[in-house]
Amino acid sequence: MTISIAHLADHVGEEVTIKGWLYNRRSSGKLHFLEVRDGSGIVQAVVFKGDVSPELFAQADHVQQEASLEILGTVKEHGKIKGTYELQVKDLKVVAAPAREYPISPKEHGTDFLMDNRHLWLRSKRQHAIVRVRHAIIKAVRDFFDESEFTLVDAPIFTPNACEGTSTLFQTDYHGEPAFLTQSGQLYMEAAAAAFGKVYCFGPTFRAEKSKTRRHLAEFWMVEPEVAFMDLEGDMILAEQFLSFVVQRVLETRRSELAILERDTKMLENVKAPFPRITYHEAIKLLQEKGHPEAKVGDDFGGDEETVISNEFDRPVIVHRYPMELKAFYFARDPSDPRLALNMDVLAPEGYGEIVGGGQREEDLARLEGAIAEHRLPREAFEWYLDLRRYGTFPHAGFGLGIERTVSWLCGLPHVRETIPFPRMLNRLAP
Ligand code: 4AD
Ligand code: MG
Repeated sequence: MTISIAHLADHVGEEVTIKGWLYNRRSSGKLHFLEVRDGSGIVQAVVFKGDVSPELFAQADHVQQEASLEILGTVKEHGKIKGTYELQVKDLKVVAAPAREYPISPKEHGTDFLMDNRHLWLRSKRQHAIVRVRHAIIKAVRDFFDESEFTLVDAPIFTPNACEGTSTLFQTDYHGEPAFLTQSGQLYMEAAAAAFGKVYCFGPTFRAEKSKTRRHLAEFWMVEPEVAFMDLEGDMILAEQFLSFVVQRVLETRRSELAILERDTKMLENVKAPFPRITYHEAIKLLQEKGHPEAKVGDDFGGDEETVISNEFDRPVIVHRYPMELKAFYFARDPSDPRLALNMDVLAPEGYGEIVGGGQREEDLARLEGAIAEHRLPREAFEWYLDLRRYGTFPHAGFGLGIERTVSWLCGLPHVRETIPFPRMLNRLAP
């Protein structure tokens, strides 16, 4: 019977077949140890001289890394490590030998080399663990909204207008007309909120980021809820409940992957609502006190500033009410100080930066028309969006969570390039 390595525990004492690839090999005279991976896990297959033919024993000593294999053997509990299983090999078939030596060996390789070989690098233990954590995050994201009566509404990828500022737009040729790859599904979620009340979209989004940073990708995945008749306060509560749910779910389901990544999970256990909240002005004051005396109202926060702020807290911190001029055109103004936006960012702890951005939307037609003009956005492209204020306008709010920054935070990765299977960055489009 062919089984996957993840299910070895259910077959102790039985003879089974495993199909996979050689990950590593070592020998000690009478024994060859073949580490075999099949995607579900890694098992040590032990070839004992007395158990197999001399030809097979000799062959087992020469199987190349990443050869595809079919192995027949008996499942044994590992003598020393409880909960670990081995395969005592009876027969071994090399399904395909590699055409040449596998380029990635256990020795240290440079990041560029590994990135060029991303299609192969994905097979390694750490990358495998990261993708599994990423999957668990995405599943938790969907479960949270699906279980809270949100309707999934997919936003388009080709869009006629900008959402997050014109400097990071990817322009394409759409049958002779310019079209942009979406920066955010938000404007479409605002339309959908008027139809369904509580909605979310989840898909790839694009930013032509000209800067090379540890946190920016040209293509990243974003989940964006939007809720009718919700204000900024409600938005902050939704964000902290949502994030707590996702982090706790990942801790429940991906302990072993986080262990492979040597992630210290102490700070992650803390991620429970409510989160501390500070205003933008309080954040500026905090920066001035903590070694950034030059910080002043009107500054936007970069990675360094976000780290200084988040280091003051033991869980994510919500920073709200930024100056309007730092923010996109669609934000509502704070009625008690119209210079401020009713927006919020959630900064992850331990210096992982902004993971959530969102807030309350401008619901007034005239003010929104004014904002579009002020930001010098092409009015015609936003006519459909203005319709949402013409026909039954309503207070509403939402946010966007970047999946890759969340993966880097939960996995403890300093750079987002390893958080997505095939990253797209300023100078990387391949493989
Ligand atoms: O703060 P941002 O730009 O907000 C929006 O796009 C809103 N329209 C969302 C909404 O309210 N519906 O992006 C939201 C999040 C950021 O907090 C960050 O996690 C991620 O998206 N993000 C990026 N991740 C990787 N690479 C980039 N270039 C990113 N830009 C934003
Ligand atoms: Mg933002």
